[in-house]
Amino acid sequence: MDTQAIRQIAEKIKDSTRVVVMTGAGISQESGVPTFRGADGLWKSFRAEDLATPEAFDRDPVLVWQWYDWRRGLIKPLKPNPGHYALIELEKRIEDFTLVTQNVDGLHRAAGSKNPIEMHGTIWRVRCLECGNTFENREVPIKILPKCEACGGLLRPGVVWFGEALDEKILHAIYTCLQKAQVMLIVGTSGMVQPAASFGIVAKRAGAFVAEVNRSNTPQSSLFDLSIQGKAGELLPQLVEQVGW
Ligand code: APR
Repeated sequence: MDTQAIRQIAEKIKDSTRVVVMTGAGISQESGVPTFRGADGLWKSFRAEDLATPEAFDRDPVLVWQWYDWRRGLIKPLKPNPGHYALIELEKRIEDFTLVTQNVDGLHRAAGSKNPIEMHGTIWRVRCLECGNTFENREVPIKILPKCEACGGLLRPGVVWFGEALDEKILHAIYTCLQKAQVMLIVGTSGMVQPAASFGIVAKRAGAFVAEVNRSNTPQSSLFDLSIQGKAGELLPQLVEQVGW
């Protein structure tokens, strides 16, 4: 275990008032959520990239909804893990703390995160393709194909798919935090999907100390100030302990 590195991040956090954390699928892995690019990330031999696109939904909405229904069923009974809870400790104590997540599983909110920026949306919302309204929907199983209660239009998952633009307000909020952050932690993401994959570099160029926490090396590990290998559910609580509030 890299105690020296944990201590170093802890010192940086102690001295900072502006901290950004970005999480990916790896933080939820210890809760039982399959990661996208891990061995357990496939569903009926489809990769996420084959199903999480507007084209896939146009072609076969039943298939795409079946995949989301499977994921919703899998995630629904799962609970946040010590990694999610450790971030709550940071949120409580750091004056200007922002949590950005690529995850759509809702586990940061379930842990008590006040206002996580869910940049890829959430699996627990649906959006009508006709009237554009969005609704919370936690039905498992969901009725396939689900229809809008307001207008009868086809509902789609309330997530951002490959090839779709992110909400501009959300992006603006994220870049504002990255520009002023003193410390950024990047937890459990493979760094393969843009624009999230560039956030660490943006923060570093703007002057932040950037540290990665991941079970494995990523293509970006060498670009950051520190990269610690291990499980988020173990390392993040250790970090909080080291900060010693
Ligand atoms: N602790 C820390 N890191 C972990 C753990 C763990 N317990 N388990 C796995 N990891 C790491 C893996 O080593 C990998 O680098 O988490 C990362 C998960 O990577 P991906 O599966 O690619 O997930 P993510 O980076 O969140 O994917 C980004 O791609 O499919 C799209 O929109 C989807 O938001 C997703 C985006």
